[in-house]
Amino acid sequence: MKKSDIKKLITYDFERYSDYHKTKNKSIFLMAHPGADLTKCYRWLQYYKEKNRLMALILRIIYHRKCIRYSCEIPSRINIGKGFCLPHPIGVVINSQVCIGSDVTVLANVVIGKTEKGEPVIGNNVYIGTNAIIIGPVRIGDNAVIGAGAVVTHDVPDGATVVGNPARIIKRMNDNV
Ligand SMILES: CC(C)(COP(=O)(O)OP(=O)(O)OC[C@H]1O[C@@H](n2cnc3c(N)ncnc32)[C@H](O)[C@@H]1OP(=O)(O)O)[C@@H](O)C(=O)NCCC(=O)NCCS
Repeated sequence: MKKSDIKKLITYDFERYSDYHKTKNKSIFLMAHPGADLTKCYRWLQYYKEKNRLMALILRIIYHRKCIRYSCEIPSRINIGKGFCLPHPIGVVINSQVCIGSDVTVLANVVIGKTEKGEPVIGNNVYIGTNAIIIGPVRIGDNAVIGAGAVVTHDVPDGATVVGNPARIIKRMNDNV
């Protein structure tokens, strides 16, 4: 991946943050935003892993320290698609083998973890509400919404909204058509 591609990725991520927070003064806001700061560091780390081992090591240390500062555990080796948005990164814990698609939003205190059977795969354009827990080898479909506090242990179909413990479907893709 080229440097210009990483810059485009970061710009795209930042657009998602400013859309989420509906901010006017983008540059000052994004400089101070913990989630945007973490995402930017994650993107540069992915870039330097392929290009420069020393820079990668330095960035890995910086990234790790940022995770401690924001009280979250998002391993730098997980695959995250473009447009990742952490409006409030506090308390987010993600297993290192989890795969995350594009345009995924993860709210505070979300846990995406593995069990002895496997780990979740998160589709594209998924919204994960605060305090949700997603565990085991489940697939969260594209455009799914995971409600605040939901405990998800089964697959969620594309476009579905789930809530509760255990999570149950309250809306399906074509409900609004
Ligand atoms: C899941 C969610 C997206 C559903 O929103 P919605 O589609 O507008 O659904 P509604 O508000 O119409 O609720 C539909 C039903 O589900 C219930 N419900 C909604 N969210 C729920 C949740 N998180 N847990 C349990 N039940 C929930 C409602 O009480 C309602 O039940 P009823 O029909 O018996 O009255 C939303 O409620 C949610 O949880 N968003 C996460 C917000 C969040 O994490 N914010 C953090 C900001 S820091």
